[in-house]
Amino acid sequence: MATASYDVVDFGTTKYGEHAKKYILKGAGGVVLEVSDYGGKVVRLFTPDRDGRMKDVVVGFDDPSGWDNGDPYWGCIIGRYGNRIAAGKFTMGGVEYRLPALNNAPAGIGCNLHGGARGWDAYVWGAEPFVTGDDVGVVFTHVSPDGDEGFPGRVAVKVTYTLTAANVWRVDYEAVPDRETPINMTQHVYFNFKGEAGGTIEDHVLTIAAESFTPTDPGQIPTGEVRKVAGTPFDFRKGMRIGEMINANDADLEIGKGYDHNWVLDGGIMAGGAGGLIFAGSLVCPLNGRSVEVWTTEPCLQVYTANWASYDQKAKGGEHLSFRCGVALETQHAPDSPNRPEWPTTFVKAGATYRTTTEFRFGVA
Ligand code: BGC
Repeated sequence: MATASYDVVDFGTTKYGEHAKKYILKGAGGVVLEVSDYGGKVVRLFTPDRDGRMKDVVVGFDDPSGWDNGDPYWGCIIGRYGNRIAAGKFTMGGVEYRLPALNNAPAGIGCNLHGGARGWDAYVWGAEPFVTGDDVGVVFTHVSPDGDEGFPGRVAVKVTYTLTAANVWRVDYEAVPDRETPINMTQHVYFNFKGEAGGTIEDHVLTIAAESFTPTDPGQIPTGEVRKVAGTPFDFRKGMRIGEMINANDADLEIGKGYDHNWVLDGGIMAGGAGGLIFAGSLVCPLNGRSVEVWTTEPCLQVYTANWASYDQKAKGGEHLSFRCGVALETQHAPDSPNRPEWPTTFVKAGATYRTTTEFRFGVA
């Protein structure tokens, strides 16, 4: 087995004028994870196929400009509130808070997405790389001021990426607000196990350990219904090719232009489960065997299959990003939870510690 180690290299300057670095984490199990202090972005991730061949299996860019000149969320840490808040407003303690509602705004159904105009993904964080025994990782820290993007309270955030000898990438989130505020963090990495320029992920087999999902209105805000997946294109309990039903004639798929939905994980607290670190799902590429299992302490999983019709952007290899070129498996609380008192809360009290963990366990199937 190799020894865990890391290198630190320059990653360029962001459009906000901040200087970024990249940390190349070499795991003792062989997986290599390149991440930036610019929003914790995953730049490259090399995993072995069933013949031991390594390939970069995430969508990303060579420097900050790729994120700064297009969709900013590829592979980032998302906060303060991942996913959507209806109409960019919520009420807490009798006070209404207003947030930027830029997402889906052209269609007249604007909402807050992924923290607002400049979410936590768009800052260069403090970063401390470490090697502890067989583990290698980086501790990222950030302070979000009171009133940041309309949210109340200053929040001190810490996200630790750890790559283990067993080829597990663990993400530990911690955040402490000084006033009550909603927090819902996630990691927005997009996988394509054929490699970044490998075309669509519709041939990947996805399993989701969820018997229900949360349908949305046309603005992608949950209607409040928690619907059984049985008999719908959302039933991934036994594993299904992503492309199997993605183009089915289905009102919910039409809204997302494919999968862009929240599943309620069977073992999680929203489904009445015990919580703890639970199996959320897995992704396998039958062509080469590369696989990942996702385990999380979060109650839900957003699956997003990169459904824009076209991307006017080139990725690391110089090729254009294509329709459905990656799939994001975003562990989270349900979208719009601040406006859904009947669902597990995302409000974190002053001085309390928000703490969640998600593991991406890489392997071959
Ligand atoms: C959302 C998509 C959004 C994407 C942006 C996903 O988490 O669900 O609707 O377009 O993030 O990168």
